[in-house]
Amino acid sequence: MMLELKTHHLTDDELLAHVERELAHTIANRPLADKLKEAAKYALLGGGKRVRPMLCLHCCAAARGDMQHAMPAAVAIEMIHAFSLVHDDLPALDNDDLRRGRATTHVAFGEALAILAGDALLSIAMEQALSCTIGAAHIAQELAGATTEMISGQVLDTLGGFPKDFNPAQQLELIHRQKTGALIRAACRMGAFAAAANADTLDRLTRWGETMGLMFQVVDDILDQTQSSEHLGKSAGKDEAQGKMTYPKIHGVAWSRDHVKELLEQSEQLLKPLGVLAQPLRVMAQALATRTK
Ligand code: IPE
Ligand code: IPE
Ligand code: MG
Ligand code: MG
Ligand code: MG
Repeated sequence: MMLELKTHHLTDDELLAHVERELAHTIANRPLADKLKEAAKYALLGGGKRVRPMLCLHCCAAARGDMQHAMPAAVAIEMIHAFSLVHDDLPALDNDDLRRGRATTHVAFGEALAILAGDALLSIAMEQALSCTIGAAHIAQELAGATTEMISGQVLDTLGGFPKDFNPAQQLELIHRQKTGALIRAACRMGAFAAAANADTLDRLTRWGETMGLMFQVVDDILDQTQSSEHLGKSAGKDEAQGKMTYPKIHGVAWSRDHVKELLEQSEQLLKPLGVLAQPLRVMAQALATRTK
């Protein structure tokens, strides 16, 4: 059961606080082995910007929906994101020991529990998506499909294996659209489904979500190269050290920054027809383009 939410006139801080409470409540209510609950709580509740749930809720409102109906979807997408980070940090993938300003889940709890906590976050997320009162089937299908795409992107990022005719720039865009873009686009589409959006609005929010998803990872790549670990709360300079394909590596930092500006302009064009209801999405796009962590 979701906590009651009065969505009128909520500030972003109030909405964020509500998302935090809802995330905590979702784990607290499960009959999980104590160790598993502790590790899942650690992975899910230890900070994080909550970008994906906020996108989901604001897209629901932009599509004239009631955010209350999007809250289980918002929780679900953040759980999938947290699962993806726990597994991304494992020794077999990025081998990171710092996340959100503290030890990664496998460093704090051991690899077995980190793998299993990630698995549990994935399956609880699917339960949450299916509990939506409007559009549950579409929302759950969207979440499952995007999760599979994210996993495919993680394979390309970690092990390569691209379509034969792809040049490096195309390979890079494919990695980013899959490993990061898919969940961000899904966050937006799930919000639209919870609003029972019409086909035009769904299509517009889909394209906007795709633009934001690509932009998000381009910014992440720039920050990895230009910020300190202390500021980011995760290990900086790792992409270069691990020979990852990134926007700065393939195109340079200046070109990458210009590309972020282009994507932000595309975002503004896409949101125009949605008028004043999309104002929170404009504010988010601006914040995501200029974030420093
Ligand atoms: C980090 O995502 C992983 C990427 C997809 C780039 P976030 O930057 O949203 O991480 P948190 O949730 O705020 O820690
Ligand atoms: C994150 O990519 C993608 C997923 C977790 C799916 P990164 O490996 O660049 O994320 P960070 O930099 O570790 O947060
Ligand atoms: Mg990675
Ligand atoms: Mg990583
Ligand atoms: Mg990164």
